Amino acid sequence: MNNIMSKFTRRQFAQLAPGPFLLSLATRGSAAPPPPAAPGAIPTRIVLTWAGDPARTQAVTWRTETAAASPQAQVAKFIADPKFEPSAITVRATVEKDDLGDGKSAAHYAARFQGLEPDTAYCYRVGDAQVWSEWNVFRTASTRLEPFRFLYVGDEQNSIKSLWSRSIRRAYAAAPDARFLVHAGDLVADGYDDRLWGEWSDALAFISATLPSIPVPGNHDLHRPPGSPDAKTSLAAAWPWRRHFVLPSNGPDLDDMPGQSYYLDYQGVRFIALDVNAFSEEGYEVAARKRVTEKELDWLTKVLSDNPNRWTIVVQHQGIYAISSGREYAAMRASLAPLYEKHHVDMVLQGHDHVYARTHKIARDRIVDPSAPGVVYVISVSGPKMYKTQKVNSQYMAKMIEDEQFYQIIDVSPERLALTAYSIDGAVADGFELRKNGTSSTYIDHSSGK
Ligand SMILES: [Fe+2]
Ligand SMILES: [Fe+2]
Repeated sequence: MNNIMSKFTRRQFAQLAPGPFLLSLATRGSAAPPPPAAPGAIPTRIVLTWAGDPARTQAVTWRTETAAASPQAQVAKFIADPKFEPSAITVRATVEKDDLGDGKSAAHYAARFQGLEPDTAYCYRVGDAQVWSEWNVFRTASTRLEPFRFLYVGDEQNSIKSLWSRSIRRAYAAAPDARFLVHAGDLVADGYDDRLWGEWSDALAFISATLPSIPVPGNHDLHRPPGSPDAKTSLAAAWPWRRHFVLPSNGPDLDDMPGQSYYLDYQGVRFIALDVNAFSEEGYEVAARKRVTEKELDWLTKVLSDNPNRWTIVVQHQGIYAISSGREYAAMRASLAPLYEKHHVDMVLQGHDHVYARTHKIARDRIVDPSAPGVVYVISVSGPKMYKTQKVNSQYMAKMIEDEQFYQIIDVSPERLALTAYSIDGAVADGFELRKNGTSSTYIDHSSGK
């Protein structure tokens, strides 16, 4: 940890961290056990994300019911020796307090760890110097193009604690070495409903504190309470989105929609989280949608054009090649698919249709030869809400499956990008891989087994 300190002067840290940067003395040499904490003071909903470089930063949010006087987080290099606490550094957290009605309130905190070393395991805890979480563990990204894997899930959305829990826990058990978790939107059924976010966190348990999340909002994540005056004019995610996720501020020029579209570079992959609600949701005023789509298209063009990474993956909620008739958004496809093709996007990870449906390699609305330029589009679902495929766009599909919950493991190396979809009973449901050659790739279909 001294290495972290040596890379920053106190002034630099004051610029980087949300509050003063302090060496922790609080944990040294306390002889008596602390008094039991009041339940409302115990940190819950601990969620890792990135707001900056995954090789050198890590962000974390958490929540208490009773507002903490001095919210903070501590981080230390992970070592086997349990006497590591004196080496921990403390970062003060920001706080947002919310009135939940019925006499209930909550406080949400955010802390950012800066100046971390690449490819290094750290442990951290969150709290207020009196009441702490357990020490959780994360690992920073490498600055080299080393192979890694990650998890991708579609719509969590319904019966989240009861039935999504089994999906995400099976996924983590299948890939405990995954480096992060991509959520393709509709994380909850009603974005404004704090109780559903509690379910979401209960389902994840320690997984959200261990694997950073890369989320993109779906239509349900925008839902406001019935009768809200801005329900048809604002495409901003409901307030809990920003309480639970600290995300990069490198998105489109849309001040009222922070953390809804952004990009992250991780070991040779550019991940672009694109909020496509404005392209597809007809419940909003035309002017509001036009404003957002124009800004997003400008931004997306820049982010795709100026991209030194070997692979490019887009995460969005609504599908470019939807499988249900009411879910086809022609204007979205006309706007986005040509950009993805022109700039060699490799795959697009989506949700919204509550089925599994995966295309072959596509360009100009046709299946192309395996070695020709093109994009593979995946729709998946991890929650229990199921729709029937209406076989719209079925001519493009390598695989369509209804009435099962899924998770996906994606393996990345400089030469190969491979997606394997699993039914949550562990059976391989589908798969494909891309072998890179220059700016294009060769597509190998595993939809009928490897
Ligand atoms: Fe959904
Ligand atoms: Fe949706």
